[in-house]
Amino acid sequence: SAAEKGGYDYFMLKEIAEQPKAVADTLLGRIDPSGSLTLDEVRISPSELREIDKVVIVACGTAFHAGLIAKYAIEHWTRIPCEVELASEFRYRDPILDGRSLVIAISQSGETMDTLMALRHAREQGSKVLAICNTNGSTIPRESDAVLYTHAGPEVAVASTKAFLTQLVACYLVALYLGQVRGTKWGDEIQAVIKDLSRISEEVERVLETMEPVRALARTLADKDTVLFLGRHVGYPVALEGALKLKELAYMHAEGFAAGELKHGPIALIEEDVPVVVVVPSPRGRSVLHDKIVSNIQEIRARGARTIVIAEEGDEAVVPYADHLIRIPATPTLLQPLVATVPLQVFACELATARGNEVDQPRNLAKSVTVE
Ligand code: G6P
Repeated sequence: SAAEKGGYDYFMLKEIAEQPKAVADTLLGRIDPSGSLTLDEVRISPSELREIDKVVIVACGTAFHAGLIAKYAIEHWTRIPCEVELASEFRYRDPILDGRSLVIAISQSGETMDTLMALRHAREQGSKVLAICNTNGSTIPRESDAVLYTHAGPEVAVASTKAFLTQLVACYLVALYLGQVRGTKWGDEIQAVIKDLSRISEEVERVLETMEPVRALARTLADKDTVLFLGRHVGYPVALEGALKLKELAYMHAEGFAAGELKHGPIALIEEDVPVVVVVPSPRGRSVLHDKIVSNIQEIRARGARTIVIAEEGDEAVVPYADHLIRIPATPTLLQPLVATVPLQVFACELATARGNEVDQPRNLAKSVTVE
């Protein structure tokens, strides 16, 4: 009913709008006043966490994209090798697991059969399983050794939005917590990132306030066949998520690529007026990445692409090559997915509407897939 949708036309719009609160709720009570993390609910002891020599993330769909981003954070802040695997592939390849492997199962619903089977397999091999989940008391957390709930509130729209952002926050918390417990050389950076995380809800709010041009742009693309997405580093999984949203909602051919791979194939797809969304890393920090992507934008534009550039406020280098420029607040590189994904959600939702699709219930999809 309209009341359930809180005045929005679709649950998806409501859930997109709820993201600042959802993100704040994921953090609530988990950062203590001294600025360190308290994840007592992770009932895997600090000494056990210090023994871990490998992290394996298993998930499906949008949750898998959260896992891909988590890998960058976990490896950077903890120096523990981290693999990310589609849950449906995981147990069939005889993965190498033992008591020192930490398996993280990410699932909004907690009922996805592929993810459940993957975690059962991991536990049979003696690994500890930590669930990152949004649904209290669901099967995946019940069968895991520990759970970190995302507290995003119920997500009704089939296409995941607020659950994704909160999965990211939960993954960052786990990465930072592992770093904290294991005392890596990134101590100061970890402190700084915890501060940045505690402000991120306001940044997401600011992004939401500037989405009208993104909607207008989406409407002009309603009769396109293909939209491509490019990113580097954590922007690459963001590109994959942007493409997935467009497939799910707009039923358009959409693909995400690592920008560095362009020259190895995807650049052949670039032709006159094909829309390409590019997620640009911050020019501060890892500036090599930024400069490389600016040349990628130049390359595709020279071949006729219509460039839709998502870049940090104050990044002037991209301006000459952006047919459309979407600004996001400056954040540390690793946290950028929390702000960069939001315009992509809005973009896909508006395109679905413009194409007359059912936003909350896309054809052929289910909110939770409880069969293998
Ligand atoms: C389904 C949904 C996706 C979701 C995926 C994983 O395919 O349509 O939106 O990302 O399942 O769901 P989970 O509940 O495990 O996060």
